Amino acid sequence: MSHHYIRYTNVHYSYPSGQEALKGVDLLIKHGEKVALLGLNGAGKSTLLLLTNGLLLPTEGEVNVGDVPVSKKTAPMVRRAVGMVFQNPDDQLFMPTVWDDVAFGPRNMQLPPSEVERRVEVALRSVGAWDLRDRAPSDLSGGQKRAVAIATVLSMEPNILVMDEPSSNLDSRTREQLMAIVNDFHHTVVIATHDLEMALELCPRSVIMKDGRIIADGLTERLLRDQELLELAGLSLTPALAEYVEK
Ligand SMILES: Nc1ncnc2c1ncn2[C@@H]1O[C@H](COP(=O)(O)OP(=O)(O)OP(=O)(O)O)[C@@H](O)[C@H]1O
Ligand SMILES: [Mg+2]
Repeated sequence: MSHHYIRYTNVHYSYPSGQEALKGVDLLIKHGEKVALLGLNGAGKSTLLLLTNGLLLPTEGEVNVGDVPVSKKTAPMVRRAVGMVFQNPDDQLFMPTVWDDVAFGPRNMQLPPSEVERRVEVALRSVGAWDLRDRAPSDLSGGQKRAVAIATVLSMEPNILVMDEPSSNLDSRTREQLMAIVNDFHHTVVIATHDLEMALELCPRSVIMKDGRIIADGLTERLLRDQELLELAGLSLTPALAEYVEK
């Protein structure tokens, strides 16, 4: 998987309940881009991300990660390249201790124990959660769980980082740490978020979704200045952000 791009071609997805979550998405995210996925609750952001590493497969259309079409067969390989932080950290944490959770991926990759230990420490320190290493993930606060969930993905050193609402529940210091991690990550990053300030700071490009479709795609700074578009998308700027984009 030499090129870390993601291509969605006419992607449709309906949940087994019949709910049509994606209604024809065409999108190319190039190697090294940082892209924010914006839109109201239910717009289809999480569904699109789950299709990126084969946790869901399109009802119609195709998703390609690099030169690999995502399918049931290729999903395990795709997941080694695409590190995914789920919207709900409880979906990510299942081992008895934080340390074991963060070590799970590297161990699965059959890395030598010393390398597993190094990666766990680097990942946990980078999200400020090293002190939590012996705790049970189920006993952590919402923000602590989020930080550890991010570490479980970082320890796998993925080529593509996909994060679903990574800043929700984080205190400002941990949120800053997350932003620094994403800033220092030199590969492809896709972040679904309601945190428009984070989108503006980290992602030069944004894609806005509404009702299972993409309604805008362009420079974050330009999209956040477009009042008509924000209204259509149901997005609103905080007063501080409004002041910033008006300048
Ligand atoms: N497991 C599911 N079964 C049935 N429908 C679902 C399921 N998950 C999501 N949906 C529906 O699919 C659509 C898209 O949901 P999705 O979770 O992708 O939205 P989202 O943009 O991530 O929203 P949020 O900002 O609330 O996280 C919504 O109409 C939602 O109700
Ligand atoms: Mg979501």
